[in-house]
Amino acid sequence: MIKHDVKNLKLAAAGKKKILWAAKQMDVLNEIKKDFKKKKPFKGVRIAGCLHVTSETANLARTLKEGGATFYLCASNPLSTQDEVAASLVKDFGISVFAINGENKTTYYKHLNQVLDFKPHITVDDGADLVSLLHTKRKNLIKNIWGGCEETTTGVIRLRALADEGKLLYPVVAVNDAQTKHFFDNRYGTGQSTLDGIIRATNILIAGKTVVTVGYGWCGRGFALKAKGMGARVIVTEVEPVKALEAKMDGFEVMPMIEAAKQGDIFCTLTGDIHVIRKEHFSKMKDGAIVCNSGHFDIEIDLVALKKMSKSVKEVRPFVEAYTLKNNRIINVLAGGRLVNLASAEGHPASVMDMSFANQSMASLFIVKNYKKLEKKVYDVTQDTDDKIAKLKLKAMDVKIDKLTKEQVKYLSSWEIGT
Ligand code: ADE
Repeated sequence: MIKHDVKNLKLAAAGKKKILWAAKQMDVLNEIKKDFKKKKPFKGVRIAGCLHVTSETANLARTLKEGGATFYLCASNPLSTQDEVAASLVKDFGISVFAINGENKTTYYKHLNQVLDFKPHITVDDGADLVSLLHTKRKNLIKNIWGGCEETTTGVIRLRALADEGKLLYPVVAVNDAQTKHFFDNRYGTGQSTLDGIIRATNILIAGKTVVTVGYGWCGRGFALKAKGMGARVIVTEVEPVKALEAKMDGFEVMPMIEAAKQGDIFCTLTGDIHVIRKEHFSKMKDGAIVCNSGHFDIEIDLVALKKMSKSVKEVRPFVEAYTLKNNRIINVLAGGRLVNLASAEGHPASVMDMSFANQSMASLFIVKNYKKLEKKVYDVTQDTDDKIAKLKLKAMDVKIDKLTKEQVKYLSSWEIGT
């Protein structure tokens, strides 16, 4: 048996069903997998993934393996691992997984280190934890590394900060920034799966509630849109003027958090920043308010402050902790302030992860083909790759589009014809 650390291999049969179910929605990835199977572009290549261990990620792992890679996987969040999927990856698909749902910080990092022990050529991160570990405690391994790929906004921000300081030690592709990733995954994936997480945790009705969307990036836009679609009154809070204006013109109420705090029934943070809900906001909230986070790290809600303001904390349902304040009001925190869409639901649906992981596959291929000439910087996914993935997705959805005529091509490339 290959090396692994998962909860229980007996869960594998349930995991395999989930993986195969997800695969049926991942047409673009399946096309890429067929091509990889023929060409074996990753023969002899070791790839380390630090990703949410879900049925969708399992299909990325299968795709890279079909292309000849040896793939090693650990979790990018201690609460998002689907233990049955981890078991099936090991038992049915021969992929080394080191991830257990609910693992503590020590085990989380032990698992990252175990994956790095295999001396990968490529890292595939969701939040830049492998890059960060390699740039600090495991620097000696960097000599083996050809390049990396990054899945999420927060990770890309960390990488660009590292590159700006001139400290990035190997090339990384910002998969998040591909159009076929963030236009769809961040907006429609986060929008739907975050509501799914809130509903599975609480079973509350969204219609008629006031939902406060904290941050109007791609994730916030998607969440606000879906909450509105379910009949909520939606308030948006922002710090960037252009985004605030966009939210206003998209039809949402925009106000400072200190005002929104008094009005909201449900609060969801999607900013990537620290303590966007804090003491002064908790003290204004209604009794029974629900607070959760769908940003990458559990830093957006100041839970230390909330705890200090509370006389007691108790779990009232799985994934729901009721904090009773000294004024006797209750604030309900979901999933301990961690990613609610992956902790109490299953993350984004497979058909949207299809495009994200098609991008990861193409970015890995880009590294294998080009690593000898790449610089130590953050690379964008090429427009050609975005177009290829969009075309394959449209084909899978049986959507046809128009082509430019010769006359139109000529018109678009000329400047003479005006009024
Ligand atoms: N990020 C968000 N949703 C995900 C999923 N279903 N699988 C892997 N990563 C994700």
